[in-house]
Amino acid sequence: MSPDKLLQDLKRVALEELSKLEGVAGLRALEVKYLGRKGRLAEALKAVAEVAEAERPRVGALANEVKRELREAFAAVQAKLGQASVERPIDVTLPGIHSPRGHLHPISIVQCELEELFRSMGFMVLDGPELESEYYNFAALNIPSWHPARNTQDTFYVKGGTKDNRWLLRTHTSNMQVRALEKYGAPLRAVVPGRCFRYEATDASHDHTFWQVEGLVVDKDISISHLIATMQALLSGIFHREVDVRLRPGYFPFVEPGFELDIKCLVCGGTGCSVCKQRGWVELLPCGLVHPKVLEYGGLNPKEYSGFAFGLGLSRLVMMRYKIDDIRLLLGGDMRFLEQF
Ligand code: FA5
Repeated sequence: MSPDKLLQDLKRVALEELSKLEGVAGLRALEVKYLGRKGRLAEALKAVAEVAEAERPRVGALANEVKRELREAFAAVQAKLGQASVERPIDVTLPGIHSPRGHLHPISIVQCELEELFRSMGFMVLDGPELESEYYNFAALNIPSWHPARNTQDTFYVKGGTKDNRWLLRTHTSNMQVRALEKYGAPLRAVVPGRCFRYEATDASHDHTFWQVEGLVVDKDISISHLIATMQALLSGIFHREVDVRLRPGYFPFVEPGFELDIKCLVCGGTGCSVCKQRGWVELLPCGLVHPKVLEYGGLNPKEYSGFAFGLGLSRLVMMRYKIDDIRLLLGGDMRFLEQF
């Protein structure tokens, strides 16, 4: 067969097959069959190489022409089929594809709200070390090594430090009081949300790891009325309604006078449950006026400055807010619990 006829036939058959193609699936196979490296066209070109030398330019040009036409035809079909698949009608009533998204932990939710509230009252929000020295956790808070108050906060000690100043996991966010005074001086308004650790048996309202929010205000002429007004703003900002509270004397070596602010248990409504230990009240917010010694440790003159401090039990506040009847649920990692928030 003459090379001209061979090429013309090949073109005709290829176009015929292409016109019968129904889906985009067979297109690639057809393209390989005709235009591939070992395809029909490549085979036909071998025959072209065998024609007489004088004929070669003309037959070569024809071969190129066939190749170009077939390429164009394939491209056109591909464009048409691709377009058709895009134009397939979309059913907008079908449910969307749901990809699971994370969300905030209840402690983080309440912590963010508190930070916002305190920022609006001109407080700085500080972060502090969880691995702390005995000095900042105890000594600088007027709790010397012999002081029985050290025993009330059972402590996880960590290897390291010196004999007189060991490393520990902070037992309260009060470790930031003197650190903040040293860094920022007075006047100062700061809150410190953070994780605390105590070596104690756990129950419905005690965990070995829990959250507190420390508050510290130091300025000239700070009095108990500033403290009470701030506590009221804090509680109404979080609960958005009246909650029953009671203030009673409390002892902490770093405040004088010191108070315990309790909240009527919102889990049982005050009738008694395991969270409030059948008392109807939950210890939530110890506070007081900063002890002059602490101001001195912070480099301030207590004759010039005074202040108040509080140590809100954030984990317990979260329990009250969402009526959670066991603190251990907060860090238990049970998704059935966490997914409710
Ligand atoms: C303190 O930690 C003091 N630093 C608070 C303070 C700060 C007093 C500033 C005065 C001035 P206390 O040990 O009572 O105090 O703890 C404070 C709050 O943390 C408690 O009322 C309670 O709500 C919470 N808390 C204490 N221990 C635990 C625990 N094991 N699990 C959960 N919450 C706890």
